[in-house]
Amino acid sequence: METITTLSKNTIQSILKNASIYKQNDTRNTLFQNKIFGLLFFEPSTRTSLSFESAIHRFGGKIIRYNSQISSEKKGEDLEDTIKTLDAYVDILIIRHPNKNIISTIKQYTHKPIINAGNGDGEHPTQALLDLFTIMESFPNFPTKIAFTGDIKYSRTIHSLLQLLTLWNPSIFYYFICDTQLEPPDFILNQLQPNSYSIKNTLHEDIIETIDVLYVTRLQKERFINENVSNIIITKDLLKNSKQNLIIMHPLPRNDEIPKEFDTDPRSKYFEQVKNGVYVRMAILYHILQKN
Ligand code: CP
Repeated sequence: METITTLSKNTIQSILKNASIYKQNDTRNTLFQNKIFGLLFFEPSTRTSLSFESAIHRFGGKIIRYNSQISSEKKGEDLEDTIKTLDAYVDILIIRHPNKNIISTIKQYTHKPIINAGNGDGEHPTQALLDLFTIMESFPNFPTKIAFTGDIKYSRTIHSLLQLLTLWNPSIFYYFICDTQLEPPDFILNQLQPNSYSIKNTLHEDIIETIDVLYVTRLQKERFINENVSNIIITKDLLKNSKQNLIIMHPLPRNDEIPKEFDTDPRSKYFEQVKNGVYVRMAILYHILQKN
């Protein structure tokens, strides 16, 4: 799963259905006990890396974890030789990297299946699938209006989720609420109907009252250098007139954009996203390895 853009509706449906079964049964088996999974994280991660580990363990699989800090990269080994080496050791590569073009680069050096676990400010396909799964748990017939806040320009989770939602249901209306410097890039806006979104720089109660999903993100300061950028901070007061079935999502990690007082709020689904990540990633592994 290198990109979200080539997934068919049938594939997505099958992944979501299997994830739901795995969640219902809290599935554990030995299906992949003979498979070796390579985890290559060149950027920090808690949820993506560890939920993949948890998903692999639940299928009885074995893990090799590449650690760039203690590898021969420190002695000058290049990516080509690193990937060719891992290719000899593992059955599938799960990779996160700051370079947006990393997937096409490593495909030159391996024919093993690759899972894109986040490529710079490009895509985060597995996060998009777990986000869609979480949305559909609350809105089986799809939400009508979704507001995205924060770092919309660089957020690979928002980019991938929008691509998935656009494929799935083109009639959703979107609000993009962010600092002027973090507005959605053209390649995202070009996929949307001109009258299907609105860009705002502040989040007001009149928007909160109409939306079904509030998808909050942090400012990814690792991706830009301008210090004078502000984020949207969610408050209980701001959300006091929300729809009763509003859901609040966040891919995490968070900074101060969602205060911890929301953690016990029934509208908050970000720790449900964390939990769903394991089951959705199990379904992704099943989808890929059944074909190979
Ligand atoms: N949502 C997400 O990608 O989290 P991590 O960076 O912790 O993997």
